[in-house]
Amino acid sequence: MTTKGESNNTSSIPINGVNGIGSNHDNDYDDMENQLIHRHVTNGYTSLNGRNGIRNGADIDHVLVTGGAGYLGSTLVPMLLADGYRVTVYDIFLWGVQSLCFIANHPNLTLICGDVCDQTRLAKAIQDCDAVIHLAAIVGYPACEKNPEMAQRVNEGGSRNVVQSLRPHQKLIYASTGSCYGAVDGTCTEDTAISPLTLYGSSKAKGEALVSDVGGVSLRLATVFGVAPRMRLDLLVNDLTCKALIEKHIDVYQGSFRRTFLHVKDAAYAFMLALKNYKVMQGKAFNVGHESMNMTKEEVVHQICDAVPGCHMTTSAIGEDKDKRDYEVSYARIRQLGFQPTVTVKDGIKELIKILPYMDEVEKKRARNV
Ligand SMILES: NC(=O)c1ccc[n+]([C@@H]2O[C@H](COP(=O)([O-])OP(=O)(O)OC[C@H]3O[C@@H](n4cnc5c(N)ncnc54)[C@H](O)[C@@H]3O)[C@@H](O)[C@H]2O)c1
Repeated sequence: MTTKGESNNTSSIPINGVNGIGSNHDNDYDDMENQLIHRHVTNGYTSLNGRNGIRNGADIDHVLVTGGAGYLGSTLVPMLLADGYRVTVYDIFLWGVQSLCFIANHPNLTLICGDVCDQTRLAKAIQDCDAVIHLAAIVGYPACEKNPEMAQRVNEGGSRNVVQSLRPHQKLIYASTGSCYGAVDGTCTEDTAISPLTLYGSSKAKGEALVSDVGGVSLRLATVFGVAPRMRLDLLVNDLTCKALIEKHIDVYQGSFRRTFLHVKDAAYAFMLALKNYKVMQGKAFNVGHESMNMTKEEVVHQICDAVPGCHMTTSAIGEDKDKRDYEVSYARIRQLGFQPTVTVKDGIKELIKILPYMDEVEKKRARNV
């Protein structure tokens, strides 16, 4: 077996989750950790998180990624380049362009500073590509509440512009969200009625409906966690780990609320999978995550306290989480296509602990999306 940290291009790690969470090694995280090798696949630009490239055929060569400089985009774009795609990032660089500096000299990367609300510029950028991955958005309920008009304009209007710019042969994959579900009894499948609780959820759901009308693929991501070239600290696992490191204490209210999580590299990988499996995924929505990462807030905090020395949890009967989502999700549909996450919440916390202490206040502020 290859050991962690080795760098080679062999194909000893099968894709399709043979070594992933939910495989035969479901809870055997130590074994999994030994097998998760973040190898540099192409030109040293990035890793596919221990997976081999999955690009197939020549029908998709050029991919345009809106919002490609963001948390998810800055993880996905290098993966696409490593898999041989030509990539154009179309982004207003709301949080800067620094997240893409490490791949700036890649010959297959083009950057366009453009707004998805600018239909003319967007249509021009899209005309020459084979597929669009639409990530650009005002992300998270606090950012949307702070500027509701902009949230509607970007999340719904921007998605309309993307859809209207598309030509019949071009493929579209949309970053949707579990926030579309809201609070749901029982387990959400893709057929569960959408009942978003926030403007973020409703504006993303409207974007999803537009995408679905033109036969695009919507990936309803769980809440993402982990380290990326552009960091976000307003996401539950990242935020609480940051708090734990600073305050050594997390007070949890409504700790029984159920949420669902996914590492940023696994989230990015789902888009690669959708490019590859576009024909069978076309026109459908897919929950992206894994049942083993359906967790209550309290369970997440326990994992953080286990990893941060001296940190303790208290529970509080009073206090209200403004994010009222409480839901459990089935991931059977995407699993049938071979999707298996590879990074556990526990391992995500470990990597966060390596990075967070060294982020300065300016970096942290920029990572909060409000
Ligand atoms: N991170 C998560 O937990 C999560 C979960 C579910 C869904 N999503 C979805 O994934 C996508 C990416 O999220 P993220 O976490 O990377 O967020 P992010 O805020 O880090 O990235 C969003 C990117 O979009 C760009 N952008 C914003 N407005 C734009 C505009 N008008 N025109 C062009 N670009 C614009 C920003 O500059 C930024 O680079 C979003 O659509 C989000 O709704 C994220």
